[in-house]
Amino acid sequence: MTTELRLGIAGLGTVGMGVLRILREQAGLIESRTGRRITARAVSARNRDKDRGAPLDGLAWEDDPAALAARDDVDLVIEVMGGHEGAARDTVLAAIAAGKDVVTANKALLAHHGHALALAAENAGCVIRYEAAVAGGIPVIKALTEGLAANRITRVMGVMNGTCNYILTRMEATGQGYNALFDECERLGYLEADPNLDVGGIDAAHKLSILSAIAFGTRVDFDAVETEGITAITLEDIRRAGDMGYRIKLLGVAQMTGRGLEQRMSPCLVPAHSPLGQLEGGTNMVVIEGDAVGQIVLQGPGAGAGPTASAVMADVIDIARGIRLPTFGQPATTLREARPARAAVAAPYYLRLMLLDKPGALAKVARILGDEGVSIDRMRQYGHDNTAAPVLIVTHKTTRTALDAAIAAFGNSDVVSGTPVALRIEAV
Ligand code: NAP
Ligand code: HSE
Repeated sequence: MTTELRLGIAGLGTVGMGVLRILREQAGLIESRTGRRITARAVSARNRDKDRGAPLDGLAWEDDPAALAARDDVDLVIEVMGGHEGAARDTVLAAIAAGKDVVTANKALLAHHGHALALAAENAGCVIRYEAAVAGGIPVIKALTEGLAANRITRVMGVMNGTCNYILTRMEATGQGYNALFDECERLGYLEADPNLDVGGIDAAHKLSILSAIAFGTRVDFDAVETEGITAITLEDIRRAGDMGYRIKLLGVAQMTGRGLEQRMSPCLVPAHSPLGQLEGGTNMVVIEGDAVGQIVLQGPGAGAGPTASAVMADVIDIARGIRLPTFGQPATTLREARPARAAVAAPYYLRLMLLDKPGALAKVARILGDEGVSIDRMRQYGHDNTAAPVLIVTHKTTRTALDAAIAAFGNSDVVSGTPVALRIEAV
């Protein structure tokens, strides 16, 4: 092991500049903890002339991040550009081809190509580390791959997109609607370059698919995550959920069942007094359940320069210390292909629909639910607004399949307008 570990940093945005800052401000502390000097040698970004708010003096510049990965004076490549194709993937593959270890914060890349990259890295004797990719500053990858390695994991769940939690909790606190809060997130710079990754639940689904792979020893299967975003949630839904003692969260749940691997990321009602229910703003929370340990709750900042760079540097420090783990906690060749399973465990659901003002309309809705075996626990109709009235229904325990059949039948009836909103009431 050479004394110095020389880094190449591909991407000088929020995360890349955060990493440079830690390297500059904590050089002595990191050296005393690893016994090695860790220095940035070369960097790459799209625009060389951009003011990045800190000097890049003494750092070699590469226009092409894959060329940065191949440089002789770079031992370890940090990929913090983003995107699951193009530059990010090419750079990671170039690093592996050159026999170099990789640290990345890129959940999209791992969700789409994690298994192939893990195989390539392990064949080449390299490691890929990605603590920052899931839940920002929370050391959840380390918890699963190391701290809980002796457990059979039974369930992983959590709130893993800070933007969505910010929007949902601010809607409740301020009484503003979804669109106003979306615009606020845009102004605050919270949104991903493609905002649908956040509000469409995709970013959080990327993260859940990575956690599932480690937890259950399976190949990352992002396409199998049942994903639904928060765009249909209204202030009315949040208030009604509150009246019933619940809060709405974009909640990810992954569990291995007798039918296969269940992975879902969707807005759910959770008890307001539960740790997940009390989560405010951009904070993330991951709950892990293991057969020996019981339940672990990890909470912290899921994004931002400091928290994300902290996680990137934790990976760099592990590599500097000589800690070398397989990408998903066990050799990639031993990861199983999981059979995807739809959520079959019954749960109560919150259902909101717009009922047309016609005689017998409410009775028709109740009959459709009954025909699909969905039993009503509570039901309330509000006043008509021109031609339609909101109806809120809480069902007894039912399956999503039965509820979807009822929703499809609503669509073919002449009494429901628009698409109903159905939210699972999750026991957490
Ligand atoms: P960002 O602020 O948009 O920065 C991206 C950087 O990558 C920019 O410096 C950009 O160059 C550079 N870049 C993009 N495409 C490139 C290309 N083809 N060649 C060379 N450089 C290129 O993004 P970020 O927020 O730092 O996020 C980086 C990664 O970390 C993403 O995968 C993201 O999902 C992940 N992440 C971010 C956070 C967070 O809080 N921001 C948290 C967890 C994970 P220019 O500056 O010249 O345009
Ligand atoms: N857009 C992500 C979020 C950034 O809001 O949580 C961190 O991954």
